[in-house]
Amino acid sequence: MGRGLLAGKVAVVTGAASGIGAAVVDRFLCEGARVIAVDVADQGPDRPGVLPITGDVADSAAWRRVAEAAREEFGRLDVLHSNASVVVRAPAHELAESDWDRQIAVNLKAAYLAIGACVGLLRDARGAVVLSSSVHAIAGLPSHPAYAAAKGGLVSLGRQLAVEYGPEVRVNTVLPGPILTPAWDGIGQEDRRRSAAGTAAARFGRPEEVAAAVTFLACEESSYVTGACLVVDGGWSAVKDSA
Ligand SMILES: NC(=O)c1ccc[n+]([C@@H]2O[C@H](COP(=O)([O-])OP(=O)(O)OC[C@H]3O[C@@H](n4cnc5c(N)ncnc54)[C@H](O)[C@@H]3O)[C@@H](O)[C@H]2O)c1
Repeated sequence: MGRGLLAGKVAVVTGAASGIGAAVVDRFLCEGARVIAVDVADQGPDRPGVLPITGDVADSAAWRRVAEAAREEFGRLDVLHSNASVVVRAPAHELAESDWDRQIAVNLKAAYLAIGACVGLLRDARGAVVLSSSVHAIAGLPSHPAYAAAKGGLVSLGRQLAVEYGPEVRVNTVLPGPILTPAWDGIGQEDRRRSAAGTAAARFGRPEEVAAAVTFLACEESSYVTGACLVVDGGWSAVKDSA
């Protein structure tokens, strides 16, 4: 049961069909928000309080449709959670240029497009933006060159947007660590075991645990937090096994 932390608010959540984005939609609804849920994938049956939009976050036309829906259907936009993501694993010298470009577009450029389309509404509502980065922004892991570059870019972009659009709009960034979502499908048991064991919490995180952090940054409980990064990784980035 929510505490009404987002009562009366309207939020956009991208990557809403799966994993963390789906958990954020559930939590936002629980907290009293209405949600414009954006994904390239089908989002299943209609749900009260959710306006699904099928679209590619790397496409500016999709963002125009999202902003128009917020304006026409709800007359406002209070929260933007830019969260959709793709990853193609390969070392830099083997990564196809098209895969580099696609990952930068979906993981980084999408946040710029989102702001371009939505910042007027967010300013009017004195709203909040929460970007989904990753611990890949602060640690090097094999075979993620474009993903890591995009996630690092989001940390800088979030800080920049906070400066640019304050005091009306707060902008913060979450950096999840290993969170068990469909993004881990196809990753072997041994790699999963090592990731969980590499946290101080000694386990994977749950999407709901990231949704709780996103909700905090989206609501008035974080009214004096902007330009900040919140690491949600069970202590993964704190753990080292050598001096
Ligand atoms: N799961 C983790 O361990 C982890 C760790 C660090 C950061 N993150 C970040 O958290 C966010 C959510 O990750 P997740 O694990 O829930 O991923 P996920 O793969 O479960 O979900 C991603 C969603 O994004 C959608 N999507 C992909 N490309 C899109 C596009 N172009 N336009 C619109 N939607 C698109 C997919 O259809 C999917 O529904 C991502 O930004 C990811 O980088 C996740």
